[in-house]
Amino acid sequence: MDVKEIFLEHNMRLTPEAEEYLKNLTIDEVKDIVLTLMEEKKVFVELDDLKKEEKEKITVIRSTFKEIEAREYSSNFKIHWERDITNKSRSKGKIEDFVENVRDKYKKLSSIVRTKMTTYQNVSFKKINGGGMESEKVRVIVIVSDKRTTQKGNLLLEVEDESDTGIIIISDKETKLFDEAQMISNDSVIGIEGSIFKNMVIAERIVWPDIPVNHKLEPLKENLSIMYISDTHIGSNLFLDKPFEKMIDWLKEGGEQASRVKYMCIAGDVVDGVGIYPGQEKELVVKDIYEQYDIFGKYMEQIPEYIEIFIIPGNHDAVRRAQPQPKIPKELINLNGRVHLLGDPAWVTIEKYLHLLYHGDALDSVIASLPGLDYKQPEKAMVELLKRRHLSPIYGTNPIVPETTDYLVIDEVPEVVCMGHLHKNGVSKYRNVFNINAGTFQLKTEYQAKFGHVPTPGIATLFNMDSLNISHVKFYEGEV
Ligand SMILES: [Fe+2]
Ligand SMILES: [Fe+2]
Repeated sequence: MDVKEIFLEHNMRLTPEAEEYLKNLTIDEVKDIVLTLMEEKKVFVELDDLKKEEKEKITVIRSTFKEIEAREYSSNFKIHWERDITNKSRSKGKIEDFVENVRDKYKKLSSIVRTKMTTYQNVSFKKINGGGMESEKVRVIVIVSDKRTTQKGNLLLEVEDESDTGIIIISDKETKLFDEAQMISNDSVIGIEGSIFKNMVIAERIVWPDIPVNHKLEPLKENLSIMYISDTHIGSNLFLDKPFEKMIDWLKEGGEQASRVKYMCIAGDVVDGVGIYPGQEKELVVKDIYEQYDIFGKYMEQIPEYIEIFIIPGNHDAVRRAQPQPKIPKELINLNGRVHLLGDPAWVTIEKYLHLLYHGDALDSVIASLPGLDYKQPEKAMVELLKRRHLSPIYGTNPIVPETTDYLVIDEVPEVVCMGHLHKNGVSKYRNVFNINAGTFQLKTEYQAKFGHVPTPGIATLFNMDSLNISHVKFYEGEV
């Protein structure tokens, strides 16, 4: 959709100068401007209106901006333990647990889809299958069990809702819709609007759970930052100890940027672990898991004491492999109160920004299954998780424990999503949600080399809360 169409959709018209000016902005920035102008009830938008918006934004930030050093500031965060699996796992892995898990996922995601406006009636497949609805316009909310191409080249979805199974057809003649439908995978919970033909729904529109377009993101008054790192893999012979120590020294020296860092998030794989894959032993310099955590703990102790540190586990850590994962036991990292061990996924509000921390195991399967995604841009795959409002949208590719509550549903809208696992830094802003892949401190492994993955080791990401921008600090310049 181009800039002009976005404005037209909201009953506003652009002068040619205004249209030209907007072409240089990102789609998210354009949407922010649309929302503000809608509040002002603008109909004709001129260049001056847009420039005024920008000026006001800068003045608001500058006039309320407070110079402050992180060490003088009391921390302000809340860990949402109710959304954390730690000490709550009840699953026995039985069929009933799987059924409950899928039911909970469907319930949560369908309620998100249901809030989206439609002029079509919501119906169940039980009603459709009962017949007598030929040509009626309907909306169904379904979970996809299978997707295939018919002999005529159309797309056929076998789906299920709470009442029954059903069939949805996406015609290859509807080019735009057909392309969008390529992004539907098994286990997606989506809404479909369309009309009934022989008890099937002929799709006209796909409704993803998605993030609301009007999600607000406000700057913080204090000039504080959050640092994100991931995948340190301590114990591996490829762990970059010198760059990691350089990062700690950078924080300790407290230069202009470093003195603003008040919080740190570490997105898992903190150690390389033991026995994670065949032949790992020859790649380990520290072969004892306790010693690996001991080294990690000693590093954490050196980080200035006023920085709150949030740590989740990854697939290399010493907790169960399947998700959701409980926190790393505190016996393994014996640390003081400002280090917070959380489960995977974890939800924590830092200042006023709700964070979703997730190691990212499901990114592999999302990249492998959906078109247009690759390992070079982890942030794009992260956006697909947000659109589906689920952290592991394709079932069966990475191990899941079927808890009766599906902890992997993204049922709240976060301001920041931070993941690791892919060892590749990347940032995107999608509908005012920052997606950060926090990279790694490990050089390229043999496994990554085999698949042609190029990691970006030794980079820390900073979220500067006063300016709402993201920056990177490099601690390693050598070859990967
Ligand atoms: Fe990793
Ligand atoms: Fe990992």
